[in-house]
Amino acid sequence: MDNKIIKEDKFLEQLAYEKEMDHLHKKLNAMQADVIHSKKRVLIIVEGRDAAGKGGTISRITEFMNPKRYQVVSLPKPTEIESGQWYFQRYLKKLPNKGEIVFFDRSWYNRAVVEPVFGFCTDEQHERFLQQVNEVEKLLIDDGIILIKLFLNISKEEQAERLEERKNDPLKQWKLGDLDQQAQELWDKYSHYIDKMFRTTAASSPWTVINTDKKKVARLESIKYILNIINADNKEKIDDKVVHLFDSK
Ligand code: ADP
Ligand code: MLT
Repeated sequence: MDNKIIKEDKFLEQLAYEKEMDHLHKKLNAMQADVIHSKKRVLIIVEGRDAAGKGGTISRITEFMNPKRYQVVSLPKPTEIESGQWYFQRYLKKLPNKGEIVFFDRSWYNRAVVEPVFGFCTDEQHERFLQQVNEVEKLLIDDGIILIKLFLNISKEEQAERLEERKNDPLKQWKLGDLDQQAQELWDKYSHYIDKMFRTTAASSPWTVINTDKKKVARLESIKYILNIINADNKEKIDDKVVHLFDSK
């Protein structure tokens, strides 16, 4: 095909994307104003395979939000002291106050997937976590916290491409986590624990799975999904090929 036509197509696609994003950002602003005004507490857990775009998605969602009223929490691996505490302790300190939206970029669900995949926790700790997490989340929801759990999914092929890109692009190298190198090799082990997580931890709050191979579509759909949960009215139409619910109920 003619290169010029491809370029024009890309340009138009980008334009349509930015236009929709602009519309959604305005709705996000209105949503945040309502969260502040009605003193809501919102916790958005963002999980997903390596390179699925957790950080990028959160940055796009929060781009024009009032920075004083949202927080992105991305905890490093536990310190010696934290390892001796109840597993949830350090996360609970970061829960939203009234009028706040908190994003967990990775979360307590490390103990459902990454930790057992790499042997950072014992089997017993992993199983205890799976038992406790539904109760913990139920307590938060009962107390009025709006909890949203997003899982960003990616295909094995797309992950391979993105990890390669990170190695080669100086602007993306910071995204390359220590464990990312093994994401491809350990793909099936990850799949086993991800599947187990979906089956055992949707009891108090369902998982919403977002397919992120098409990054821009995924970002738009993630935002629409969040808006729909927090805004009862004026719902956005969501593409169910990109977003679906895993609900054990
Ligand atoms: P990211 O993909 O978030 O940039 P990594 O791939 O390096 O980072 O690590 C994935 C997750 O595993 C992070 O949340 C990190 O804190 C956690 N992690 C890494 N090492 C350990 C460890 N020894 N014990 C517990 N958790 C760890
Ligand atoms: C990821 O999902 O690996 C990271 O959050 C980085 C990103 O792609 O935004």
